[in-house]
Amino acid sequence: MLIDTFDRIARDLRVSLTDRCNLRCTYCMPEEGLDWLAKPELLTADEIVRLIHIAVTQLGIREVRFTGGEPLLRRDLLEVVGRVAALEPRPQMSLTTNGIGLARLAGPLREAGLDRVNVSLDTLRSETFRALARRDRLADVVAGLAAAHEAGMRPVKVNAVLMRGVNDDEAPDLLRWCLDREYELRFIEQMPLDAQHGWTRERMVTATEIFNLLVPVFDLSQDERQRGSDPAETWVVDGGPGRVGIIAAVTLPFCGSCDRTRLTADGQVRNCLFAREESDLRGLLRAGANDAEIAARWKAAMWAKKAGAGIDAPDFLQPARPMSAIGG
Ligand code: GTP
Ligand code: 5AD
Ligand code: SF4
Repeated sequence: MLIDTFDRIARDLRVSLTDRCNLRCTYCMPEEGLDWLAKPELLTADEIVRLIHIAVTQLGIREVRFTGGEPLLRRDLLEVVGRVAALEPRPQMSLTTNGIGLARLAGPLREAGLDRVNVSLDTLRSETFRALARRDRLADVVAGLAAAHEAGMRPVKVNAVLMRGVNDDEAPDLLRWCLDREYELRFIEQMPLDAQHGWTRERMVTATEIFNLLVPVFDLSQDERQRGSDPAETWVVDGGPGRVGIIAAVTLPFCGSCDRTRLTADGQVRNCLFAREESDLRGLLRAGANDAEIAARWKAAMWAKKAGAGIDAPDFLQPARPMSAIGG
């Protein structure tokens, strides 16, 4: 089991498959992109499947989420999903994507065993999309969402980061649009994880502000379901069945119920999105370590997990890696 000194148990593994991306969201990375990892640094499909096998058979992991960068850019994605689906016990499998390419891949991914997707969509206006993601790809994302729904993935979730003066006026429109299509929308507070270190608290649209943008338009009532380790606090909209979530990662951190462990695309365990240390599993793998040795290092990495992200602490420092290289 992956347990820490605060008695939290990690059941959910987030695996970054690549640090590359085909968008350049301003809250994430600069226009010119980043110094991407070189191919030999990335875990191979065999290495990823081996680590996930260890995680589900020896470490109690029940759910695997593939992230990036943009995970759909990984050429062997279908192979990885198919091989993880064949593991015993089979973990729940999900993917967080920007949606580009999903129109073509949703069906094959579903067939390979993927259970669900979360798609980032911050705006419904082409102009705003181009300004925010620095690429003109809104139509691809919309088509990708439709394809995931069509392929039978449930729930299809949409992640939206609101930015003051950019897309914060769109909150009700985004919610209406998602409700009409049976997508579960979650708004996310912008976190200090951008490569450019340009985040400021003043520019962040807070969970309270987001809620206040929605209440004039929708009737929001408390969701009676158990929240568990869900990062989103959810509300039932207009009596249901539609819901909306708000992920208040900065103003109301959910670290106390965190059940996540992370693997970067170059095979480092991170016990927290905001961790300052990593543990190298790739080195162990490539030195010929056995499963028990790898499991032991992973356990030790999680045991060292801190109580919280500490964004509010006076000595808070952004992690050395940006979000796109950690996997969100
Ligand atoms: P579900 O299983 O669908 O609830 O997935 P998720 O919300 O955990 O995953 P997703 O990749 O869609 O992430 C949504 C947002 O939550 C992103 O901005 C993530 O960075 C953020 N998030 C996910 N896990 C954590 C975490 O452990 N800590 C913090 N602070 N944010 C997180
Ligand atoms: N703060 C909050 N969310 C972010 N995402 C990317 N960068 C940030 C940030 N700095 C979102 C993406 C995606 C999810 C994995 O995290 O839009 O939906
Ligand atoms: Fe790419 Fe996601 Fe970063 Fe946008 S937030 S640039 S989609 S990795």
